[in-house]
Amino acid sequence: MKALLGIRWIKIPVFLLCLLPLVALVWRALSGGLGANPIEFITHKTGDCTLIFLLLTLAITPARRLLGLPQMIRFRRMLGLFAFFYGFLHFSTWIGLDKFFALAEMLHDVRKRPFITAGFTGFALMIPLAVTSTAEWIRRLGGKRWQTLHRLVYASAIAGVVHYYWLVKSDIRKPVFYGMMLALLLLYRIGAWLVRRPAPLRASASGTRQLTLAEEP
Ligand code: HEM
Repeated sequence: MKALLGIRWIKIPVFLLCLLPLVALVWRALSGGLGANPIEFITHKTGDCTLIFLLLTLAITPARRLLGLPQMIRFRRMLGLFAFFYGFLHFSTWIGLDKFFALAEMLHDVRKRPFITAGFTGFALMIPLAVTSTAEWIRRLGGKRWQTLHRLVYASAIAGVVHYYWLVKSDIRKPVFYGMMLALLLLYRIGAWLVRRPAPLRASASGTRQLTLAEEP
């Protein structure tokens, strides 16, 4: 497994796998398989993908530590960016197909409909994370500030789960399942924080803390 994760081009098949939900959606759209309410279908699929990729991103740190596979870190940024990508498609579906760019109506929904407020918050929190996901931004911000900023991913995932929980009318099984997965991932971090102090961060010549993409969150 270690050898497989270490292969230089392994990111390519992983990237293609992450694209599969979109390919399936486009395929369904072209073959008339989106059902009686295509907008609802697209909204639900892209919403699901956003949450799943957010959880997968958060699962990388515990998985690499528990499985002893530090190489898994190579996929975290890609998974996070796919969460943002599907979130963007989800949000765009709402803006363009659901609301037809009616700004007043959208603002009204964001203010007055709690599940939209939560979803909007979740997506808004992902924007600075996507923008600053590059090594260049880690350098620019400095490891400590970058790490603090990227803890927003926890708030984004919580907002996403709350959004889902608030929008379902009766069958709460799926949002509760996602909520439990998120709770486990957050509990792991709290546990890790309680049992040991963060690993000493390497001090650079200038005394600023250095952070590689291999560290938290
Ligand atoms: C972190 C960001 C977000 C996540 C994780 C997320 C996730 C989800 C999920 C999982 C669903 C339900 C999918 C299903 O039923 O299978 C959903 C539905 C929906 N989301 Fe989001 N969402 C996010 C942001 C947003 C934003 C920004 C908007 C619009 C402002 C939005 C609007 C909607 C709407 C309208 C629905 C369908 C509601 C219904 O069927 O009544 N979401 N979202």
